[in-house]
Amino acid sequence: MNILLTGGAGYIGSHTFIALREAGFEPVILDNFSNSHPVVLERLEQITGRPATLERGDVLDTAWVQDVLRRHEPAGVVHFAGDKAVGESVANPLKYFHNNISGAVSLLRAMDAVYASVSAPTSADPPTLVFSSSATVYGDPATVPITEDFSLSHTNPYGHSKLVIEEMLTSLRLASPAWRVGVLRYFNPAGAHPSGLIGEDPADIPNNLMPYVTQVAVGMRPHVNVFGNDYATPDGTGVRDFIHVQDLAAGHVAALQALLSKGESFTVNLGTGRGVSVLEVIRAVEHASGRPIPHVFAPRRAGDVAQCYADPSLAKRLLGWEAKRSLDEMCADAWRWQSSNPNGYRG
Ligand SMILES: NC(=O)c1ccc[n+]([C@@H]2O[C@H](COP(=O)([O-])OP(=O)(O)OC[C@H]3O[C@@H](n4cnc5c(N)ncnc54)[C@H](O)[C@@H]3O)[C@@H](O)[C@H]2O)c1
Repeated sequence: MNILLTGGAGYIGSHTFIALREAGFEPVILDNFSNSHPVVLERLEQITGRPATLERGDVLDTAWVQDVLRRHEPAGVVHFAGDKAVGESVANPLKYFHNNISGAVSLLRAMDAVYASVSAPTSADPPTLVFSSSATVYGDPATVPITEDFSLSHTNPYGHSKLVIEEMLTSLRLASPAWRVGVLRYFNPAGAHPSGLIGEDPADIPNNLMPYVTQVAVGMRPHVNVFGNDYATPDGTGVRDFIHVQDLAAGHVAALQALLSKGESFTVNLGTGRGVSVLEVIRAVEHASGRPIPHVFAPRRAGDVAQCYADPSLAKRLLGWEAKRSLDEMCADAWRWQSSNPNGYRG
């Protein structure tokens, strides 16, 4: 059963590729490599023992995406493709509105056109989509842990784009009930495949904490800036829900299996339910790498929240999924990837 992964060469897409193959699906990667590297395809072949199928191109090209869908006839599509840097989205909101929102519209139009002939609610083959959303849609949550019924808002154009896409998907399902849509709100993906062959490969200064900390450990950067040590948290630093990227990948398999077998749409958090502070992450990477990690306290960043962690019980109830891996495993795997590939896929 083919599954199309838009943005499948990226960090989460490449790990999901492996999980899907291990579960008996045949994933097809669609990517324009705007934030990834073709070497990932060789690594995926090394890990899974078979070549990966690639469609190189842009999700904004609706006619081409239609052609890809017609040729591969996927039973489902996972839409990872998009831009994800919060700071860049503040500086360049139109880039985010174009690539993320117009990209999603382009994919949905292509799917709608291709599946139109089978779009009756009773059809055996309705359009099936899993969408990469984010905990950022909760804005600044009033309390933690966060459940899916919390109010939604946005604090930057990246988050705004995710929220708009979620709303578009709701309208689409109201207009065309045949659509089966799984919205996955990721918390903080971290870690890497235990082979050390694939992992997070930021092209520039990492936006996420884990690659920043491992880059300091490997000597690429002098120290970690810890933004804020006066939050109302146990050690004063921000608290987040770090989830191993392999657990996240398994969540996509569970989401597709649920959509394909039960046909019910859903929106769920994918997190561990455990809050971990920035200082705890630094200590865990020190432990995994055996190296000291210098860090410097800096003022809070605008838009950062004190605590953000999931209540993941709905995903367990609906999908039978829960995160299994520990913070120590995440750090050990992130360190293995970083230390064996100091420059990522660029060699
Ligand atoms: N990593 C995180 O912390 C995180 C958290 C929450 C949500 N998400 C979302 O999950 C998704 C995947 O994230 P990731 O960390 O794997 O990011 P990533 O940048 O590693 O992967 C995205 C992939 O999409 C591709 N892409 C971008 N625009 C494209 C286009 N127009 N056409 C074709 N390909 C395109 C990029 O080349 C890249 O390979 C994104 O939508 C992101 O917003 C990520």
